[in-house]
Amino acid sequence: MGSDKQMTAGDDRSGRNRGEPDPAAMFTPSSADAHAAHEVTEWALARLAGRRDVLPPKAAAGSLPAIDPEGIGADAALALFRDRVAPTAIPPDHPRFLAFIPGAPTVAAALADMALSVAMIYGGSYLEGGRAVEAEDAVVRWLADAAGFPATAGGTFVSGGSIANLSALVAARGGGPEAHRRRVIVVGASAHSSMAAAAHIMGCELVTAPAADAHGRLDRRVLEEALATLDPDEVVAVVATAGATNTGAFDDLAGVADACAAHGLRLHVDGAYGGAALLSPRTRPLLDGIERADSFIVDPHKMLYSTFDCAALVYRDRVAASCALTQTADYLAVCDGEDPNPSDLAIHLTRRARGVPLWASVLAYGTDVYAAAVDHCVDRAAYAASRVEASPALELVLEPSFTVLVVRRVGWTADDYAAWSADAMARGVTVVMPTRHAGETVLRLCFVNPLTTREDVDLVLADLA
Ligand SMILES: Cc1ncc(COP(=O)(O)O)c(C=O)c1O
Repeated sequence: MGSDKQMTAGDDRSGRNRGEPDPAAMFTPSSADAHAAHEVTEWALARLAGRRDVLPPKAAAGSLPAIDPEGIGADAALALFRDRVAPTAIPPDHPRFLAFIPGAPTVAAALADMALSVAMIYGGSYLEGGRAVEAEDAVVRWLADAAGFPATAGGTFVSGGSIANLSALVAARGGGPEAHRRRVIVVGASAHSSMAAAAHIMGCELVTAPAADAHGRLDRRVLEEALATLDPDEVVAVVATAGATNTGAFDDLAGVADACAAHGLRLHVDGAYGGAALLSPRTRPLLDGIERADSFIVDPHKMLYSTFDCAALVYRDRVAASCALTQTADYLAVCDGEDPNPSDLAIHLTRRARGVPLWASVLAYGTDVYAAAVDHCVDRAAYAASRVEASPALELVLEPSFTVLVVRRVGWTADDYAAWSADAMARGVTVVMPTRHAGETVLRLCFVNPLTTREDVDLVLADLA
């Protein structure tokens, strides 16, 4: 890839249309495209190797070229992306990106994702997706086994936790004639915002149980309180959170499962972030009780080290789940088989086989190293907590949970937090964003990146203190 200036100067390698527009030219690689492909691969490897060098993001200078009738050539468009588009994005895979819930794909996942785009696989059905769907199924099975789900389990991959939660709730409402009666979704106080969005989209009421503790956990006692006023026949499902976004807290899944069993209610577990705890024997007990859920989700683009965008959606009974989600049309009947297709298990039809990068990564490195990666992040969070406790300028707002810390800088106002956060990012120190907890502006640090070192933690906390 040359720079955009070089390529817009009329270089033949640009592949621009010179005479009559020829549609076929867009689909046949030219020598300029071959050159661009080579440079993209080199850039990709350099980016993956140099993840420590991608902070701070570059300021977006000048405007991007206008989309015009002639085009600038694939080579120039790729150069623009590399030089002036990609570097302006805040990189969530930097080892000191501790805001929101970061993500950091493995090398195998990133490269498999590039290859997946070129392979142009339709992942909606077994008929078309071939072994790509089989590969995705193998990863779903790995997750289902980790959760203790039976042989009837199955699932698919969707774009993110939000669509995964929505799909799971639509499946829980069911496809039968009684589905319309179910119009209440029960959640804990730390439920993710996608629950309110799902309830809104489904035309349901969201009932939030009182917080059982300072972390906002859901347990049997507070769930029973919430259920006392509800008709169980009207409940779509109870949703428990495994790894709350703001605090990292895990709801008491076993207690919640007991209450659901007692009232005949479905249980969905939102493990978009904390579902990664399934992978390590050290953290697996946080999820005790998940084996009794009807469905759960976990986002591989968070702590399973795959690429954006990817959420795994796993059902206890894949056939039952498909009842409310399968689209039927005369032209789709040809895809029907014994098992539900991936398109029958979520709100989608055409889909990218986005579980393939995770499959390639797990196959490449084996599962043991995933457990080690989770343990590493838990250790980093514990180390950071110990450094916070040792600093007179800093305080832990809550007991740390999993890999999230909520931290107070003594004496700071909301403006101070915002100013430090922006400045620390501009100086390339860290990406840490303020949040609110119990009405107070505080900072939240989330560790998911195995490249984060103790020195990184020291640097960030020294800057903050
Ligand atoms: C607990 C939880 N659930 C759901 C989501 C939504 O996931 P996504 O952003 O992939 O839609 C998140 C995102 O951070 C989350 O933390």
